[in-house]
This record gives sequence, C-alpha cells and structure tokens, in this order.
Amino acid sequence: MKIVFFGDVFGKSGRETLLDAMPKLKDRYQADFYILNAENLADGKGLTEKTARPLFNAGIDAMTGGNHLWDRPESLDYIRSEPRIIKPLNYPRTTPGSPYCTIVKHDLKLTVLCLTGQLFMPPCDSPFSTFDRYLPELSSTTPCILLDLHGESTAEKRAMGWHVDGMISALIGTHTHIQTADEEILPQGTAYITDAGMTGPHDSVIGVKRHIILEKMRSGIPVRYEVSDRGPQINGIFITLDHHTGRALQIERIRECYKDDL
Ligand SMILES: [Fe+2]
Ligand SMILES: [Fe+2]
Repeated sequence: MKIVFFGDVFGKSGRETLLDAMPKLKDRYQADFYILNAENLADGKGLTEKTARPLFNAGIDAMTGGNHLWDRPESLDYIRSEPRIIKPLNYPRTTPGSPYCTIVKHDLKLTVLCLTGQLFMPPCDSPFSTFDRYLPELSSTTPCILLDLHGESTAEKRAMGWHVDGMISALIGTHTHIQTADEEILPQGTAYITDAGMTGPHDSVIGVKRHIILEKMRSGIPVRYEVSDRGPQINGIFITLDHHTGRALQIERIRECYKDDL
C-alpha cells in the first residue's frame, strides 16, 4: 500500500500549488491514498467548503485537522457533514469533525486519525491515553493505521513515536510547518517523522508575510496577519506499507520548490 501525505496546506498558495501538481504527483507516486492536513486551507485559518472541495475532487481521500480546524465559524456545518474531514480525537466528543476515518479503495483499507499534542498547544486530553483507549476500536478494521500527530513539541512527538511503535503503520507529525529530516522506520515497524512540513508559501514565517512577523517580533506590538504567496513548496511524506501486516516498508520525504507564478 502506498500513501502520500501532504503537510499543512496553507492558503491559496498551498492549495493552488498542490492542485497544479497533483496529476504529476499521482503519476510519480502511484499512491493508493492521498491525505493532507487541512487546518490552514482557507487563508491560513481553518477550511471552507470552497477551499476543501476542489482538493477532494483532485483526488485527496481524507483531510486531517489541528488546532486551527474550526477557525471559520461558517464552516462548522460543512465539517460536521463531511466524514472525510478528521478532527483531533483528543478534543471534546461534540467538536465538529470525524473522530477518525477508514478509507476503502481497491480492496485496501486505511484508517486515518489525528491527535494534538499538549505541550505549547491549546488544551486537549492526553494524546497517549486517548490513543490507548481507541486503539482496539481503530485496529479492529485494518492493521493499516496512519496517525497525524499535530503538535509543537519535538520531544512530545518523538515520545509518541516510541509509544505507538508496532501498533500503527505511521506517525506523521504536523503543525510546525517546518519539515524535519528525521524520517525512519522505528524498530517495531512504524514509519515516523517529527514534522512533514508545510505545503504553501515558504518565503514567509510559517505562512505569514515575513515583514509582518518581523515587525511584530521586533516591536512586540500585535499586528494583523497577512498570508504570503511567495516561495511555494510542496512538503509531504511518501510511505509504503505491507497491507497484510500494516508494517511500514519505506518512508521518504517530499520537498519540492515551485516558481512564484500565482
Ligand atoms: Fe498548521
Ligand atoms: Fe496547527
């Protein structure tokens, strides 16, 4: 089983770059499943039906969330109605979004879930105990399970990697928008990377126009954020699994730069 996961797709730059590249990426990776983190689809804050639908139509099978998933109040009903949008499982039960999603395609089944970290992040339940509580249910359908661990702390994500090793197929970190170079297959067969990076404008500070963030950091005065459209990149992960056992066979980073021609 082959899976491509795109790190936080940010704003118009991220969406349009990915939509343009999808045919070429499909050709190259021939993946069974394409997944992305969608918490920043709409101008960097949350998602809307208008921003998500073209990506589903282009072949995205499921979208994971994060702390920004619900930034657009007008989209909460859409998130509730679209089972392929997955919320962090350690948020309250009533929070809009699917608790997890099992995608079935060509006789292959992949369960996708998302958890947020607790360190330097908005309040949520422990990702460790939430994972333990849901694991029997998650693994009852398929051994192929992908976890998007959305968190700020590299140590927390690394610790979670050891916690889940051998129980799921892959842990892919998201949220920092900076890709890490520590991809590996852990000893019990779980593919791991601390952060997949951002699909979006890298001539920025994690997606926001750089002069705005510089002004804020130099002066300490709050500023209004504006999304950058410069330096688009696709950041993601390509994973191959043994679909009978769920064990990872290969993990590879995707990091491609595109021209500023939006
Ligand atoms: Fe993000
Ligand atoms: Fe986030």
